[in-house]
Amino acid sequence: MEVIILPDSKAASRLAAGMIADLIRKKSNCVLGLATGSTPLGIYRELVSMHNMEGLDFSEVTSFNLDEYVGLSPEHHASYHRFMQENLFNHINMPKDHVHIPDGLATDIPSYCQSYEEAIYQAGGIDLQLLGIGTDGHLGFNEPTSSLTSRTRIKTLDRQTILDNQRFFQPGESVPSHVITMGIGTILDAKTCLLIAFGESKAEAVAGMVEGPVAAILPASALQLHQKAIIILDEAAASKLAKREYYQWVYDHKPDWQKVGQS
Ligand code: PGA
Repeated sequence: MEVIILPDSKAASRLAAGMIADLIRKKSNCVLGLATGSTPLGIYRELVSMHNMEGLDFSEVTSFNLDEYVGLSPEHHASYHRFMQENLFNHINMPKDHVHIPDGLATDIPSYCQSYEEAIYQAGGIDLQLLGIGTDGHLGFNEPTSSLTSRTRIKTLDRQTILDNQRFFQPGESVPSHVITMGIGTILDAKTCLLIAFGESKAEAVAGMVEGPVAAILPASALQLHQKAIIILDEAAASKLAKREYYQWVYDHKPDWQKVGQS
């Protein structure tokens, strides 16, 4: 795992967006795994700005989102389809048929999930998977005790996740209790995993993910098994890491040829 600690979320988002842009410039038909929630918003803003100002070209890029609520239509204001349209896809030139987000209205969910896995495979696999982390350590919507080899499937949300995500819904509206999510095994198949976390509320989960044992009770700890997992944190999210000075030292002493996303 490579742990990068930056002063604030703006610097962290800029670096993450730079890594994604580097990949698109090197491999114009790359496959991105995308995430929703508050954390990636700054990254999407940076990517939109690079598209507008520097012509970053998404015309050959394909994407697969991690998850979606069961029962929400793509038009629902809190659906992840809507989130992705409003925060990224409406502002870049990625063709509509290159975009994949789990269908929350799928009727035969097991066979739909199987077809989502097949579509990722047919696209050549995910080159870079963007990830956040839940306060309970979830990855995608793989809640604690999810199998570390799981594939795309239906999951039931933890109460804490429902509370955390209530802010995206209107007062009186309930957060769906079921979701379709890529599995942890699906995520670990990506060539690079790029996890971003900001704020003190994530500090405990981040410490468990990086320095705790690999355990299904903290799904994000599965990233310790990945050959190329990059974790970008602000100071607050890094505040409970025992070896944070070491991670900082490693980053400060990186040889130039190893640096990505900083051009
Ligand atoms: P957040 O969610 O970015 O809204 O904090 C992250 C997650 O639940 O994975």
